[in-house]
Amino acid sequence: MHSFAYRANALVTFAVTILAILCGIASLSDNLNLPAPTAEIEITSINWFQRQPNGNDEVSLMMNITADLQTVFTWNTKQVFVFVAAEYETPENSLNQVSLWDGIIPSKENAKFSVHTSNKYRFVDQGSNLRGKIINLTLHWHVMPKTGKMFADKIVVAAHHLPGEYR
Ligand SMILES: *[C@@H]1O[C@H](CO)[C@@H](O)[C@H](O)[C@H]1NC(C)=O
Ligand SMILES: *[C@@H]1O[C@H](CO)[C@@H](O)[C@H](O)[C@H]1NC(C)=O
Repeated sequence: MHSFAYRANALVTFAVTILAILCGIASLSDNLNLPAPTAEIEITSINWFQRQPNGNDEVSLMMNITADLQTVFTWNTKQVFVFVAAEYETPENSLNQVSLWDGIIPSKENAKFSVHTSNKYRFVDQGSNLRGKIINLTLHWHVMPKTGKMFADKIVVAAHHLPGEYR
């Protein structure tokens, strides 16, 4: 009896050690993967563009997002959080970042997609800086691995010139 319990315990310890080593290898091999997502983001129309009573500019727009994040997925990837942001410079801030759309990609099979959508989140400036502004449309991804650290990256996909007048 004693020797059985001892052996069972040794076996569990051994299994846990192997698991720890495998997890280490998993996150290590994940770090060796060099993802190269591709995307096209096009603003297909401006629904309206106004200055709010409080003085902040707001834009409502339609966009066409086509992306392929398949290279982000490895066998250690649980899911990928993706978002499209408008990034631009103002006299107050060197980087303003407004999230326009986001989604969760559950698997590699879903990592190639195309959506035609209005902005899911309000595109409001902290001021009146958007007329004629050139914005960078960026694709950000956050990888949630099965084991190991989460990591994130982004690419600048396109630049877009906002209208010079409210409409
Ligand atoms: C969106 O972009 C894709 C790829 O460029 C294109 O095939 C599709 O027709 C576009 N859809 C709209 C509504 O512009
Ligand atoms: C917009 O993208 C260009 C090219 O990648 C970059 O040089 C510039 O700094 C970006 N602007 C902002 C406000 O992030």
